[in-house]
Amino acid sequence: MNPKPHLTPLWAKCLHLLPPETAHQLAITLLSVPSLVPLFAKTSPNPHHFLNPSSYLPPSLSLISRPIGLAAGFDKNAEAIRGLSLLGFGFLEAGTVTCLPQKGNPKPRLFRIPNHKALINRMGFNNKGMEIFSQNVSSLPHSLPLGINIGINKNTPSPLEDIKKLIENLGKYAHYLVLNVSSPNTPGLRKFQEPDALKPLLNTAVNARNSLEKKIPILVKISPDLSDEEIIALVACACSSHVDGFIATNTTLSRNLNPPHPLAAQQGGLSGNPLLPLANHVLKVLASHVKTHYSHLPLVIIGTGGIMSGQDVYTKIRLGAHLVQIYSSLVYYGPTLIQSLEDELVSLLKRDGFNHIKDAIGVDL
Ligand SMILES: Cc1cc2nc3c(=O)[nH]c(=O)nc-3n(C[C@H](O)[C@H](O)[C@H](O)COP(=O)(O)O)c2cc1C
Repeated sequence: MNPKPHLTPLWAKCLHLLPPETAHQLAITLLSVPSLVPLFAKTSPNPHHFLNPSSYLPPSLSLISRPIGLAAGFDKNAEAIRGLSLLGFGFLEAGTVTCLPQKGNPKPRLFRIPNHKALINRMGFNNKGMEIFSQNVSSLPHSLPLGINIGINKNTPSPLEDIKKLIENLGKYAHYLVLNVSSPNTPGLRKFQEPDALKPLLNTAVNARNSLEKKIPILVKISPDLSDEEIIALVACACSSHVDGFIATNTTLSRNLNPPHPLAAQQGGLSGNPLLPLANHVLKVLASHVKTHYSHLPLVIIGTGGIMSGQDVYTKIRLGAHLVQIYSSLVYYGPTLIQSLEDELVSLLKRDGFNHIKDAIGVDL
């Protein structure tokens, strides 16, 4: 099957005349006024029953009626969640939010590499902090499936205290929480992927979550730069701490750009098309290990990294993802991409004789 080529809409081309971060801020401003959204994006029709993931997700995620979500980092302060919810996403992940407001790294810190459909960012958890975030999410209808992605402040004296406060303050607004221990732009953060440092962080997070009124899943977001052995050690540590799932993956420090590009020399995490093989490898190692050793646990796996087409979504589902997320492709193709990804996914499932997305999860493991 030849997938339809996705065309960059005219307004997205205009946005790309602006510096990347200015364009992003403009998009957030427009999306923060939901009544404006129908003027520049076709709001999405009803979900396809083939793709409804609610039957295989834990109760707190059963509101999710379509499998493609928005990845973290697009709406760091949860300013545009209502507008974003009109675009056809099944769920939205806001953040990364930290306890205290944080400026992030000096600008420029976001770069487009259009011929690779890639981005490099070293934003550094720029966000307005937990208080403003909390005001923004407190007025959202609870029927909107929302993940909250949390992280530690760059200079925090106590990472565990940060995580505890974030969960105590924001947990009640979330359908799931994500511990971001994989951003490459906060010095020392990735060491929390090693069991010795990860274990106390997860125990703190799970205890704080257990004190909430409702039990929501906690997922760990992992890096695509881990070795297979590191992934397996992380999964074992997370499962022994009663974590509920994983997001694979964050951006990569590697530069798999062929042909090479001068912007590859920029520091930061690479996302978009060149990330796909690496993110898929990590997803496969993670999901195989979960299938072999932890199939008795109801773990949720979200696949993200490099999705540009319905085939890419399908590949991640076949590699064990229950849900997927996108970010970079939204920047290049605009929100109409979401519906085309779904349509292509339905065709691919039908072509291969599946009656429901759940039957395709993990068949390539
Ligand atoms: C500009 C930018 C900012 C991001 N910020 C965050 C973040 O704050 N927290 C996080 O967990 N991931 C962040 N990410 C990573 C994305 O959530 C996603 O994991 C990654 O981009 C791979 O998906 P993609 O190839 O579809 O973009 C960011 C990505 C980009 C491009």
